[in-house]
Amino acid sequence: MGIFLVTGSASGMGAQTAQRLRAEGHRVIGVDRADAEVVADLSTPEGRQRAIDEVLGSCDGVLDGAVLAAGLGPKPGAERTIVEVNVLGVTELLTGLRPALAKSEKAKVVVIGSNSTTSTPLVPRRAIRQLLRGDTEGAARTLRRRGPLSAPAAYAASKLAVSYWCRREAVSAAWAGAGIRLNLLAPGPVLTPLLRGQLASGTGKQVRSFPVPAREYGTPEQIDEWIAVMLSPAADFMVGSVITVDGGTEALLRPRDW
Ligand code: NAI
Repeated sequence: MGIFLVTGSASGMGAQTAQRLRAEGHRVIGVDRADAEVVADLSTPEGRQRAIDEVLGSCDGVLDGAVLAAGLGPKPGAERTIVEVNVLGVTELLTGLRPALAKSEKAKVVVIGSNSTTSTPLVPRRAIRQLLRGDTEGAARTLRRRGPLSAPAAYAASKLAVSYWCRREAVSAAWAGAGIRLNLLAPGPVLTPLLRGQLASGTGKQVRSFPVPAREYGTPEQIDEWIAVMLSPAADFMVGSVITVDGGTEALLRPRDW
């Protein structure tokens, strides 16, 4: 049995994965703003550092896997927080925890991205470059120039930046070379508190108009089945892949690009 980190373990997809891993007999170190083994606010540098320190202390320096599911949706006015949590809440944690993952035999890491990376038009490239440099303040400024579209742009930019970072790191000697398999799962709309909140908010109409050929939303249980495979030996030969599970939106919008 292994020791796994799950961020965003208190709700939605993270909660589902944490529950399943525990039922299988693994030890889960959950990280969230509340109701978790490690309570930390991943939107601040202090919170991220505390999460790293407490996870390292709790796992005795060896982690068998990690699922990075903490994240914020496209909430208007929250551009800076969105990019802090969705980008640095992944990249800083993984950088800090990489030595513990490398100490396990065959550690697997799954980062929850989003199909917004391929379905959101006109995401400012400048903001993505700024995020890859860790300049969240500059990126938030760039994104706010999109006016009413700044929240969806911030969300898509955050998921693009974190996906680029993961794919770049995944193939490097520090990750693939150290036996760690780092991959991304890109869901479409999944019925979690995050999506329910969006559907009930002012952006609900916009969310409902998003084309989903499957004609239903995904469930955390379905997504977790894919996460389970990506944490299993089936992923020993999987490096830097983006697995899209989105009811067909990407295939509909970009039939020739993948
Ligand atoms: P959720 O809202 O149910 O769960 C997210 C968790 O992240 C919550 O427990 C929340 O407390 C935690 N979190 C948020 N900000 C935090 C912070 N500052 N510090 C620590 N923890 C924090 O959301 P859901 O839907 O389960 O989302 C999981 C991931 O999947 C997110 O990265 C989201 O962007 C992504 N995603 C969700 C989709 C959906 O339709 N639900 C679609 C595509 C991607």
